Amino acid sequence: MRHETIEKNINLMIVLIIVVISVGGLVEIVPLTYSSDATEAAEGIAPYPPLRLAGRDIYIREGCYGCHSQQIRPFRSETERYGPYSIAGEFVYDRPFQFGSKRTGPDLARVGRRYSNDWHRLHLTDPRSVVPESNMPSYAWLAEATVDPAEVVAKMRALQTLGDPYTDEQISNAADAVKDRSEMDALIAYLQDLGTNRSSRR
Ligand code: HEC
Repeated sequence: MRHETIEKNINLMIVLIIVVISVGGLVEIVPLTYSSDATEAAEGIAPYPPLRLAGRDIYIREGCYGCHSQQIRPFRSETERYGPYSIAGEFVYDRPFQFGSKRTGPDLARVGRRYSNDWHRLHLTDPRSVVPESNMPSYAWLAEATVDPAEVVAKMRALQTLGDPYTDEQISNAADAVKDRSEMDALIAYLQDLGTNRSSRR
């Protein structure tokens, strides 16, 4: 009988659905905000150094996440192919995270040091030159564009305000670290670092 009352009253049904989903959501989300596993950096994880930080923003600007995920799920088929599964503490300095949900290309969470810098340069300039069947677009122009040091410094200051533990010294050295570097250098530095902190668990 009670069930019938709910099914015949759409407003009551809407309210009850919202209550059920809210409770379910809170039970999953609230404990996570108190868990150090999810809020503190995993071992070996530090805020991005200047060149990699610039590279990360190029990755986002170019929409690489549209074809590449950065999250290895805890399934054998994934850990055999990509390496140890991802944990929350690896992403505390990722604002925003790059988990992604589309894998036209492979997951990149642990692509760091898998290939040489030269391989990446060839691959980003002309993917078909190293992987003939690839349908990844070319990003050749990144070799011509240079990173803007002032922008990197400003980003690091902003992240420091948000609580990333950059020292003032790191920020004052940042401009020199990225001066005259191409956007391709920055992107490759970013890729070469992805997931390397946990490679020992492999
Ligand atoms: C239209 C989809 C698409 C986009 C966008 C794309 N890729 Fe790819 N990517 C692929 C495919 C497919 C492969 C597998 C074939 C190959 O290696 O080229 C791949 C492979 C790769 C690999 C080698 C991974 C491995 O483990 O072998 C890297 C590194 C990579 N992409 C980086 C990038 C970066 C950086 C960007 C953005 C600048 C990007 N990709 C944008 C489709 C894409």
